[in-house]
Amino acid sequence: MISTIQQRSDYTFKANRSLGRHGWLRLTPAYGVKLVEKLLANVETEAIVLDPFSGTATTGLVAAELGHQAFSFDINPFLIWLGNAKCRNYSEHCLRDIRKQVKQVLKEYKILRVRDNWTPKIFNIERWWSSDTLKLLSALRTALVNHFGEPEERDEYNLVWIAFCRLIIETSSAAFNHVSMSFKETVSDRNCEDIDELFLIILESILLSAEKNICGSVQVLKVDARHITELDGIRIDKVITSPPYPNRISYIRELRPYMYWTKFLNEAKEAGELDWLAIGGTWGIATSRLNSWQVEDETLPSDIFSTANSIKISDGKNASLLGVYVLKYFYDMHLHLSSIRSILKDGCELHYIVGNSTFFGNMVDTAALLSESMRILGYSKISSEIVRKRNCNKALYEYCISATW
Ligand SMILES: C[S@@+](CC[C@H](N)C(=O)[O-])C[C@H]1O[C@@H](n2cnc3c(N)ncnc32)[C@H](O)[C@@H]1O
Repeated sequence: MISTIQQRSDYTFKANRSLGRHGWLRLTPAYGVKLVEKLLANVETEAIVLDPFSGTATTGLVAAELGHQAFSFDINPFLIWLGNAKCRNYSEHCLRDIRKQVKQVLKEYKILRVRDNWTPKIFNIERWWSSDTLKLLSALRTALVNHFGEPEERDEYNLVWIAFCRLIIETSSAAFNHVSMSFKETVSDRNCEDIDELFLIILESILLSAEKNICGSVQVLKVDARHITELDGIRIDKVITSPPYPNRISYIRELRPYMYWTKFLNEAKEAGELDWLAIGGTWGIATSRLNSWQVEDETLPSDIFSTANSIKISDGKNASLLGVYVLKYFYDMHLHLSSIRSILKDGCELHYIVGNSTFFGNMVDTAALLSESMRILGYSKISSEIVRKRNCNKALYEYCISATW
């Protein structure tokens, strides 16, 4: 008899399959994929495309699927691993090997279920998974490590770990809305006996979409987008990216469960350190460091200072800190727009998808402020258009800023 979990999951994963590799794990909704496809529609074949804020590698993957050579940068080691795993080709032999070995894994998992296995040190882990679900997930993880090694050890087995990442979210009480994560009211105990079935469904859906080879190439590299120096002499034809927005969303916070289970994070303080490196990061230590942060470059567009100042003097909780937050965001983006110039071909077109935000009634017009940075830095043909309304109650939009170098 087919269990409910299987029926429900079959439905979800069939729906996801149409997204191919894009459906594995992503931060961007499906419209992001369409937008990148549109921006690449008239680009000559085998162009060199860069996404300096890779995230889940949407731009790189779309570009490579269209036959281009793509580079992506990120500072988050988990996303660098995920991006490379998502964008490489897997041989038939490798996929067959995974299917064969997983049968053994599930046998071992049944034995390990009654033992104590490694679990990640996630704060308040019981909010994410019930103790029974946690026991099964940790048994499955141990069995997977015994057969395939830890996530970063063997590239050819990355797909197994992507499936496991998907499984931990499917079985958790986290609710992922578009960009931010919250908890459902009750910790789900999703028919936990079926976790192995669910894992097989997820894995099979991922293996099937990995059968289709990508004709171009993608390399996701660990590069801080504020300090781009060079790329082995390579020059970029087109930049398409969605950088963080000045909206206090922390990618580290959203990615915590994946990062702990795959051992890219081991302790809470590492998460804060990573968020401090991230543009727009304000989580843990990143928030307290903002208190003493001071701008070093007075050549920023004056509107950036006035926007930050009106937030600082407004009557809101932590107004002063948030004024600094906004100033640092635009300062970091200015550094980025300055340093990327060294690797752009003359005539390179750039497209930045960004969102505006509000702080205590003060509008932060991200598109206008970044356009002004671009102008000061010597970019030309700068324009921006609304691509999407983000929230029906507030005047929040996503814009595409385009420019030429
Ligand atoms: C909005 S997300 C990108 C979403 C992406 N378009 C996708 O498809 O998932 C922004 C990304 O910028 C990265 N990032 C933040 N600060 C960075 C920096 N200084 N250098 C490079 N990447 C950075 C974050 O880790 C995050 O993955």
